[in-house]
This record gives sequence, C-alpha cells and structure tokens, in this order.
Amino acid sequence: MKNNNKKVWSKRFNLGTSKSFERIGSSIKVDKRLYKEDLFASLIHTKMLMKKKIIPTKDGKKIINGLNKIKSQIEKGKFIFKEKYEDIHLNIEKKLFDLIGPSAGYMHTARSRNDQVVTDFKLWIKNSSKEIVNDLTEVMKTLIKKSENNIGTCMPGFTHLKNAQPISFAHYLLAYYEMLKRDKKRFLNNLELLDESPLGAAALSGTSYKIDRQYTAKKLGFKKPTDNSIDSVSDRDFAIDFLYASAVCAMHLSRLAEDFIILNSDAYKLISFKDNMLTGSSIMPQKKNPDPAELIRGRTGINYGKLNSLLTIMKGLPISYFKDLQDDKSLVFDGYDTLKDTLIMSNELIKSLKPSKERMLKMANEGYTTATDFADYLVKEKKISFRQSYMISSKLVNYAEKNKKTLDKLSLVELKKFYKDLDKNVMKIFKVKNSMNSKSSYGGTAEKNIKKMIRKYKREI
Ligand code: ARG
Repeated sequence: MKNNNKKVWSKRFNLGTSKSFERIGSSIKVDKRLYKEDLFASLIHTKMLMKKKIIPTKDGKKIINGLNKIKSQIEKGKFIFKEKYEDIHLNIEKKLFDLIGPSAGYMHTARSRNDQVVTDFKLWIKNSSKEIVNDLTEVMKTLIKKSENNIGTCMPGFTHLKNAQPISFAHYLLAYYEMLKRDKKRFLNNLELLDESPLGAAALSGTSYKIDRQYTAKKLGFKKPTDNSIDSVSDRDFAIDFLYASAVCAMHLSRLAEDFIILNSDAYKLISFKDNMLTGSSIMPQKKNPDPAELIRGRTGINYGKLNSLLTIMKGLPISYFKDLQDDKSLVFDGYDTLKDTLIMSNELIKSLKPSKERMLKMANEGYTTATDFADYLVKEKKISFRQSYMISSKLVNYAEKNKKTLDKLSLVELKKFYKDLDKNVMKIFKVKNSMNSKSSYGGTAEKNIKKMIRKYKREI
C-alpha cells in the first residue's frame, strides 16, 4: 500500500521525529514480547466491532485473516519490527495495512493504545504468573522429596547463627515450603485482582460507539470489564503486585541460598552439592564453589530494583496515561526472567543437595543445645517455676563449659550438684534426637509431626 511508511500521526506534524528520540522513545525491542496478547486482543476487539455492526463484516474478516498471517510471520521470524513505528501495537497495525490495504483502517475503531497496552500487559502477566506458580510448585515438590528422606536427620537449629536447639533437617527445609506456599498465593491473589478487562476504556474517557465490553472481557478471559475508564488506563497495580510477589519470592529463595552457602562453607560442612552445581577457581585447584546459590542471592537485588523502579515511576504520575508508563514492561519482563531463572536454579540446587548427617548430629550436640530441655524437665518433673529451672540449667552450662564437656557427657553425680533430687531418667534429656522428638506441639520439629505435615503437603500441592 502506498504511503504506509509514515507514522500514523504524520499529517499533523511539520517535522519528522528526531533520530535519537526515535531510538530512545521506541519500545518495540521490549514490547514485541506482547505480540501474542496484542494479536489476540485485536482479534477479539474486531469480532466485537463486527458483531455490533460498528465496522463492515467484509473488512472485519480481512482484518482477522491479516492478524493470523502476522502471527505466523512473527512466529517464523519473518516479521521485521521497525523502531519507527514505536511499539508492538503500531508495528502490527502498519503490517496489517501492508497485507490487507485500507480495510486495516477499521481495526482501531473505539479503542486507543492506552487501553490496548494495559489489556495486552494484563494478559501477559496472567500467563506469566501461572508459569511462575508452576515453577514454584516444582520447587515445593522437590522440598517435600528432600524432606521425606531427612525426617530423622538431626541438625543444630540456629538463632543468631549460634546453636540453639536440635531440629530435623526436614523441618528446616519445610520452613521454605511454607514461604513458597505464601508466594504462590501472592501471585494467585494478583490474578484475582487483575481479572477485569480494560479494553474499551479507549484513550481515557470511554467511547461513543455502542461497543460490548462484556463480550470482549469474556472472550479475553476476564471476569468482567473495568468500571472506570480513567482508572483502566492509569492502573498499573497489577504490574506492581507482580513485581512485589516476585521480590518477596526472590527474598525467600535468597535466604535459602544464604543458608546453603553457610551450611556448605568449610567452617560448617553440613551440606554438600553435586559437582554439576559447582564451579572451580582459575587459580586455586582445590576449590568447589556454590555459585548458583550466590546468583540466587545476588539477583534478588534485581527483583527488588524492578519493584522499586515501578513504584517510583508511579508515585508522582498525574492521572491518566503518560509515556512514563511505557517502561513498566521492561521492568516486569526483567523481573519475570530473573525470578524464573532463580526458581530453576533453586530447584536444581535443592535436588543436588546432600546433608552430612553425622556431622549434623555431632554439631547438634555442640553449644549446649539441650539446656532448655533440662530446664523444661525440672519444671515438669519437679514442679518448680521455669525461671528457677532456667537458673539451674544456666549454672549447669557454665559448669560443662568450664570442664569442656558436652551436656550428654555429664554424669548423674555431676548433675546432682545442681539439683539434688535427680535419678538416671534425666540422662535421656541430653540426647539431641530426644530433644528434637519431644517438640511435638503443633508445627514443632518432632518426627511424627513432620510425617503428618508431609502427608498434608502432598494432599494440597
Ligand atoms: N507503547 C506505549 C506504552 O507502552 C503504548 C501506549 C501509547 N499511548 C500513547 N498515548 N502514547 O505505554
């Protein structure tokens, strides 16, 4: 078609666009990723325009054919995206003119790029959230599997990175299951919140054509159309919620990665990874470094950054559409790509993890980790107050420390120096596995609790 190489607004302008601004202002390199959503939304929009007799059926049919051709061209890598046409929406419209001629001019009736872009973007975030939820589910399944093999694996639980109380390694891993389960809910919650179609809000005020927004909403897979046209084109909450859910999820995985780095360090040596998840050093021949864990931890910064950037873009933006909003997409795409890789790496890393069970057990017995159990024993058996028993147990720890003994190596005679009325029954208190299994309160680390929880997790996942 003749003259189809000009910008749609060229008639109104006296000067061509500055070359540098054309490059900087164009978003096609980024938003071509929305091509599927854009074509789909245009298809539904066109069907609605035909159904409502807003455009002639013969032109509508040509548009639909053209859109299908464009789809296959893009998917075959034959579509040339042009910076000059700014974004995916105008690139597609221009191509449509090339393919079907003037009939293409009917497509943009009763809509604007403002409602078009939010519609596309919401559809993209919907699909991508589902992807993330699937990836999260995979990591959660891996955590369950690893846990099942480690219910009886006793390790030191830490607070302040100081040995605190013995716990099961499975219980430790399942703490992360809980975090990821909440992450999943955050993504799913956003899917519910964003489930309104903005298409038909047009530039900002709605349209005078007798469009059917219920129809387009339903066909696009939204629950209903949005209620306010101005909010429709200015709202980016769904992108912020997506980035927030991503940031929190990345934060959880970063904590897991940090745990792994510490537990794998030569100072701890409590876990190891298979060689396929490690890298060597260019100078130190002995090295095996847990790089994936470090990338998981480091890239959380990217996820935080994207969220912070979008919140900042939004904070001073007068209602309704401004070009500032164009950058929302690169932030969300980058956030998505980063988190996706993080989830893939996390899953593989957990799979390749091996706990050093003996060392864990030994370390669980260091640092007087059963001192609380002794205090609790005195409360339950001797009916003294916890504060009193706490004081007695403190003295016992001081004694053990001074004599360089672990608590389980103290004799009954030694124990009796701190509380006279004791018999040999007290000795079992200092076995770390007994301590672990005594924590049978709901949600506690006792093996029988963990077994119950794993059964529950398997049902719900
Ligand atoms: N590429 C634009 C964006 O992503 C599409 C909307 C353009 N609207 C406009 N009034 N310039 O935001």
